[in-house]
Amino acid sequence: MARILITSAIPYINGIKHLGNLVGSQLPADLYARYNRARGNEVMFICATDEHGTPAELAAAKAGKPVEDYCREMHAIQSELAGGFRLSFDHYGRSSSERNHKLTQHFAGKLADAGLIEEVLETQVYSNADGRFLPDRYIEGTCPNCGSEDARGDQCEVCTKQLDPTDLINPRSAISGSTDLEVRETKHLYLRQSTLRDQLDQWIDSQTDWPVLTTSIAKKWLHDGDGLRDRGITRDLDWGIPVKRGTEDWPGMEGKVFYVWFDAPIEYIAGTAEWADANGKTDADWERWWRTDKGANDVKYVQFMGKDNVPFHTLSFPATIMGSGEPWKLVDYIKSFNYLNYDGGQFSTSKGRGVFMDQALDILPSDYWRWWLLSHVPESSDSEFTWENFQSSVNKDLADVLGNFVSRVTKFCRSKFGEVVPEGPAYGAAEQAVIDALQARLTTYQTYMDAMEIRKASSELRAIWTLGNEYLQDAAPWSKFKEDPEAAATSVRFALNLIPFYAALSEPFIPDAAETMLSAMNATADWPASAADALNALPAGHAFTVPEVMFAKITDDARDDMQTRFAGKS
Ligand code: MF3
Ligand code: ZN
Repeated sequence: MARILITSAIPYINGIKHLGNLVGSQLPADLYARYNRARGNEVMFICATDEHGTPAELAAAKAGKPVEDYCREMHAIQSELAGGFRLSFDHYGRSSSERNHKLTQHFAGKLADAGLIEEVLETQVYSNADGRFLPDRYIEGTCPNCGSEDARGDQCEVCTKQLDPTDLINPRSAISGSTDLEVRETKHLYLRQSTLRDQLDQWIDSQTDWPVLTTSIAKKWLHDGDGLRDRGITRDLDWGIPVKRGTEDWPGMEGKVFYVWFDAPIEYIAGTAEWADANGKTDADWERWWRTDKGANDVKYVQFMGKDNVPFHTLSFPATIMGSGEPWKLVDYIKSFNYLNYDGGQFSTSKGRGVFMDQALDILPSDYWRWWLLSHVPESSDSEFTWENFQSSVNKDLADVLGNFVSRVTKFCRSKFGEVVPEGPAYGAAEQAVIDALQARLTTYQTYMDAMEIRKASSELRAIWTLGNEYLQDAAPWSKFKEDPEAAATSVRFALNLIPFYAALSEPFIPDAAETMLSAMNATADWPASAADALNALPAGHAFTVPEVMFAKITDDARDDMQTRFAGKS
């Protein structure tokens, strides 16, 4: 039994995520977690909300709520939506937890002890009206290059020129609009990650099995980007983790907090400690996942994330871990994803364009979304959600192939033999041929799932479903029944045995449908040792019930309505 630690990039707290966010980390991580549990491995699957930073503060202000309240409420909402999508986290933590405060301060202390933290005096824009320092992107003004009046302090979006806040003509606060701004001096901590370049380079070079998307981004940032530039890890904000050196105050850092990207990945560890706290476990119970001196040496640690997150996970977070000088577990495999686009453009939160997690669950059951999203996951390039494509996947793969198979054979059996598995003679050549084909595909499916080749795994699964349909079509027990009811019984017994087999293999993708199939067949979801074993699992006389319709087809009218409804305001 292997031990697998799985983390998904932790979603920002400010708002409900869209399907593009979901498919870029949490959903594929869930697929892998479910698969590994089904294979009998010990799994720890952690996610959390990413609660710090200016966007969280501003979203709370916009909602007219204290930021603590806002985050608590949004965490509850996101947690409930995760449940709706059947994301099987062992713990869904919060980066604002006490555990993360302590651990983040601990890492900062260790990095400082190792000489990897530098204090830097900076100048920064202070807004008197807002009573706070303004991050670059919260200063707006006229672009010196093109004259646009809405340039931000980091960049003009109209002409794309990179700017400094002091370049702006007539600068104003993006929060209040106030022009009462001044430049003040302030001290910040910098992580000297550039000193770890060689160590990081060697570590990344040694990862020969990582996906190209991951290593190419890591290498690019390591060599020709400024990904390893020493990085400010503190901010002048109220909301966040107070800057401390371990448990000690840090002179000169009063009133400052750690930068959100410093504390967020540490929450992977803290979230596991939160899991222990929430389940009456001890520190040793979570440390055996994370400390190589306490049992984590035999853990395989896999991270899931969108491509924009790769630099933080291949450089910055490993720099924190390595720089601490303590035996924390480094990631073993990083599965990263491209972007999912929406119907000829991008998902847009501000324009309400695309489907968001809450809306998706209002319209259709989660399995429909899970199946489409996972079978179209943007693995090797960006992919696109279109309603035609969604409709066709649901109607063909789920309704016509899988759903129809299950309903056809259970209903036919009920009408001719009753709700028990019929007997008939032993399987013959036709059944053996299907068993052989299934065995070959089962092996391939497992190989793809082990390798996190999600699209390939999904087409293998679809092909496995199709084999059942083709068998039923050829065996045609409904036409055999008159002359040879015994032969028809054998065909039906074989087909009924396919249902629990399908349930077990499909569970990582469509857990609710798997549950429906298993409870209809009064069977358990053991991973099949072989196709031959699985096809002999339900003996003659085993009772079952006909399940409800598993998947309803999406009509053209319904599709058109949804397309209009989610097009967003331009
Ligand atoms: N909140 C970030 C995003 O959605 C991801 C943070 S991942 C972590 O892009 F490593 F920082 F935790
Ligand atoms: Zn401009």
